[in-house]
Amino acid sequence: MSKQGDMQQELALDVNHLFKNFGGLQVLSDVNFKIRGPELIGLIGPNGAGKTTLTNILDGALKPSGGTVYLNGKRIDTLPPYLVARAGLGRTFQVTRAFRRMTVMENLLVPAMALHATASRREFEEKAREVLDFLTMSHLTNEYGRALSGGQQKLLELGRLLMLDPRIVILDEPFAGVHPRLMEIIYEWIYRVNDEGKAIILISHDMETIFTLSKRLLVLNYGDLIADGDPDVVKDDPLVKAAYLGEDEPAPASPAGPESAKFALPTRQPGQDDSADDEEGRVNA
Ligand SMILES: Nc1ncnc2c1ncn2[C@@H]1O[C@H](COP(=O)(O)OP(=O)(O)O)[C@@H](O)[C@H]1O
Ligand SMILES: [Mg+2]
Repeated sequence: MSKQGDMQQELALDVNHLFKNFGGLQVLSDVNFKIRGPELIGLIGPNGAGKTTLTNILDGALKPSGGTVYLNGKRIDTLPPYLVARAGLGRTFQVTRAFRRMTVMENLLVPAMALHATASRREFEEKAREVLDFLTMSHLTNEYGRALSGGQQKLLELGRLLMLDPRIVILDEPFAGVHPRLMEIIYEWIYRVNDEGKAIILISHDMETIFTLSKRLLVLNYGDLIADGDPDVVKDDPLVKAAYLGEDEPAPASPAGPESAKFALPTRQPGQDDSADDEEGRVNA
């Protein structure tokens, strides 16, 4: 959390020569990118490309096999997740994790008070009410986490991030299985948070969403960052096309159709974990 007003200049993420392997499986190999200022970045790649693993390294849950990560000049790849969060990096989970035995209000208060012991409970409660109002979840303030639908749990996670006030956020498949009405709220959330000067990395299989929101696109292909740049340029990159054409599911025939059709991802495949969520049902944690 920064106390300086000069927020935008201060925001810098440096990912240097990141490697990760699980036993013999190389999941990230020499991943390099930088974020400067409140960028809105899409991160895509086939299922199993390493997107969630990268997120887990950036937030401190996993240690890299090689390489470094710096946030505003401070090395964070050696820190535990709570210190990475305190340094200003927040994330949501592909499989949502609301505290089931706490109320919605407590779900917002507990991480915020644990992380930033500076404000009073009353101040946090005030902020939580504002956050719930923004998420159109005020009527759920005293419900237990377990009573929420999968989509509402995703909103609650976004609410928690607002409470923590990170400088940079990573959203791992925030739209997967979410009702269109809630999708709109998540769109609003992204625009609001980005307007507040925070950088966002958005991981999504939904190409329409990615191309609507992202100003920059990173493409991960089985551990290699094969593209990084303007989404309209990246989507025509031969390497990127090859990566997606190499998937099992063929790209749909699109006679000069919309962008999203020209660059179709393999969306819901059987057994894919992000298909487990729906608006009414709970997440299969
Ligand atoms: N903890 C782990 N142990 C072993 N293999 C893992 C682990 N986490 C992820 N993997 C493997 O790493 C690869 C990348 O997974 P992941 O980062 O979840 O991809 P994505 O999010 O792009 O779909 C997959 O082959 C996955 O099976
Ligand atoms: Mg993933």
